[in-house]
Amino acid sequence: MIKEVFKPNPEFAKNARIKNMCEYQALQDAAIRDYEGFWGSYAKEKLDWVEPFHTVLDESNFPFVKWFEGGKLNVSTQCIDRHLDSRKNKAAILFEGDRGDKQTITYLDLYYNVNRFANLLKNEFGVKKGDRVVIYMPMIPEAAYAMLACARIGAIHSIVFGGFSAEALKDRIEDADAKVVITADGAYRKDKPYMLKPVVDEALNGKTSVERVLVVERNNEEVNWVEGRDFSYNELIKKQSNECEAEAMDAEDPLFLLYTSGSTGKPKGVQHNQAGYILWAQMTMEWVFDVKENDTYWCTADIGWITGHTYIVYGPLSMGATTVMFEGVPTYPDAGRAWKMVQDYKVNQFYTAPTAIRVLHKMGEHEPLKYDLSSLKVLGTVGEPIDPSAWKWYYEEVGGSRCPIVDTYWQTETGGHVISPLPGATPIKPGCATLPLPGIIAEIVDKDGNKKEHDETGLLCITRPWPSMIRGIWGDKERFIKSYFGDVKQNGRGVYFTGDGALYDEDGYITITGRTDDVINVSGHRMGTAEVEAALAKEDEVAEVAVVGKPHPIKGEGIFAYVVMKHSLKDSRFESYEAIEKELNEMIKKEIGNIALCDDIVFVPGLPKTRSGKIMRRILRSIAKGEEITQDISTLEDPSIVATIKSLVK
Ligand code: WT7
Repeated sequence: MIKEVFKPNPEFAKNARIKNMCEYQALQDAAIRDYEGFWGSYAKEKLDWVEPFHTVLDESNFPFVKWFEGGKLNVSTQCIDRHLDSRKNKAAILFEGDRGDKQTITYLDLYYNVNRFANLLKNEFGVKKGDRVVIYMPMIPEAAYAMLACARIGAIHSIVFGGFSAEALKDRIEDADAKVVITADGAYRKDKPYMLKPVVDEALNGKTSVERVLVVERNNEEVNWVEGRDFSYNELIKKQSNECEAEAMDAEDPLFLLYTSGSTGKPKGVQHNQAGYILWAQMTMEWVFDVKENDTYWCTADIGWITGHTYIVYGPLSMGATTVMFEGVPTYPDAGRAWKMVQDYKVNQFYTAPTAIRVLHKMGEHEPLKYDLSSLKVLGTVGEPIDPSAWKWYYEEVGGSRCPIVDTYWQTETGGHVISPLPGATPIKPGCATLPLPGIIAEIVDKDGNKKEHDETGLLCITRPWPSMIRGIWGDKERFIKSYFGDVKQNGRGVYFTGDGALYDEDGYITITGRTDDVINVSGHRMGTAEVEAALAKEDEVAEVAVVGKPHPIKGEGIFAYVVMKHSLKDSRFESYEAIEKELNEMIKKEIGNIALCDDIVFVPGLPKTRSGKIMRRILRSIAKGEEITQDISTLEDPSIVATIKSLVK
């Protein structure tokens, strides 16, 4: 690890919202001294309330907490209406399509588009407050309109990433009991049209709660229309009025669900509510990216992930910023696409994932030099630890050794950043998320909640509820309590455990060491090993399967599967192992989607199990990595299996 420390640029710090570590410490001290006072005053200052709240935090039903009770507001109003006085002609969204087509959507345009969309959902489809609407969309402005339209009428959106398969989409539709699906015929990727609507058709095959499907016609490819169920957005939107009253929502009404992987096969519908979520989305935008009135901010995530929710749509718009939205991939038509966009839009803050940085580095080491990147002020990363070589390249070649890198640590469940440098204040260290943001009480502890000494790996917990924390797992209270509050206790009360290990360095900085559960991080996306195993086990030749993560030069972690077959190859219906591999990956495509394809599949005669039948994944992880086995294998039912498996792994 690079031991160097990079101090904030004094010129930048002068005008930053948080200018130095004294200011940081003063804010954090204020939060610790009077937690409710701290949050209450920000909630008053940052949000426009229809009715004021009477209680800042109610923990009486912990872990089901309530923030800003009594308060009423509307999230679409926060993101749009309140900016109209001062910013109606300011660009809210700068859209660039895969093929280079551009759209500038001002705050006033956004207001009309969202109102029309909200009227469409309400008047044509009968969508009411509390109804669930699934959004399965490409990265086009209508996806953002759809989110904000739901927020405007109080419907709960659940976005499913466009790379998920029909099966995965179906599971999420069913779990949320959705009434409407919003999709597009398709979109463009690398100059070619691809399709989404056929996936929706497949997902809705059979019995379904979905009454209506709204189709945005993006690429005008031929699609199937189901009479009475499917409607064209492009047609219906023409008839809608430009005004739609915003529903006054309770602070704790649900805003959206977003499914994420856990350590069991079934994905969890993470629920976020109104006021606390939007408050922290705005505050972290302001603090962590330090976006100024005339800045252009670009986050390359997909709206199908939490990063896209909080840092393409809700965060930037709630603070009245200009957010870039990009349909394509940063390496097409060449490795300079992203840098050309930074140059052309004069992007000031650029936020992406380490996996993208590694690809851009590999494909075009000196590509950034060909473009004028002098507009950049802050660089950000998210999703996984960033390795020193990617960090160095990003810092030097992209940021010209001038821009701080904010290594933002957070999760779908945290709603927004929780541990991150502040660009004008925090001296940064490569690969280190540094310190908890003001108001966030994050600690590295043991199972009993005792704080770890420096250099000792422990469990990363957030020991006090914070406004944008997960409010529940949709339809499963028990799982919510067990998943997040069951592992670590402090003063007799369960505390929120992130699932990540971490350690303090000598300065008290926090370095994330990675997941401690059966969750792997593929290209910054969370993948449950149990989910992948369940998909592989659907192939009837498979007797048993175990999936682990293995370090991957681009993706961070790749998926490594050990498969035990029911029959020998010659007694199976397959011609070759390659044919089985192909079939297994087809199964993954069908059950989950391309994002979960296995990098390695190894056929083994058995798995290392204890006498009680538990699979020893730690051994399998070591073998996948090519490490020496140091753990005791004498407790295994058949210790010789370890050597056999090792000999089969190249
Ligand atoms: C997991 C959350 C947060 C949006 C994208 C992923 C890992 C996230 C960092 C970081 C090291 C990180 C953690 C976390 N992670 N950010 N800066 N450094 N690890 O959201 O799918 O909910 O995954 O991503 O392991 O638990 P997610």
